[in-house]
Amino acid sequence: MEIVRDGGIDEMLALCGGCLSCATCHVFIDPWFADRFSAMSQDESDLLDSSEHRREDSRLACQLAFDSKLDGLRIALAPEH
Ligand code: FES
Repeated sequence: MEIVRDGGIDEMLALCGGCLSCATCHVFIDPWFADRFSAMSQDESDLLDSSEHRREDSRLACQLAFDSKLDGLRIALAPEH
């Protein structure tokens, strides 16, 4: 989430600043990279359930740690609620 925002993409609101309470950092992850992230917590899953746009490849960007094995990762921002 911070990488996206620092990259100047203002469409990602991330209103709660990563406190896992807003879901405005909802993204769709390139399936090629899906197994390189940590498992989704129940809290993240519960919050994603509040989105009518949830898909199998949905994640909350603020819950994703980035490292070198994610080089080349592509994501798409989910539509707003
Ligand atoms: S920034 Fe609020 S849940 Fe991710």
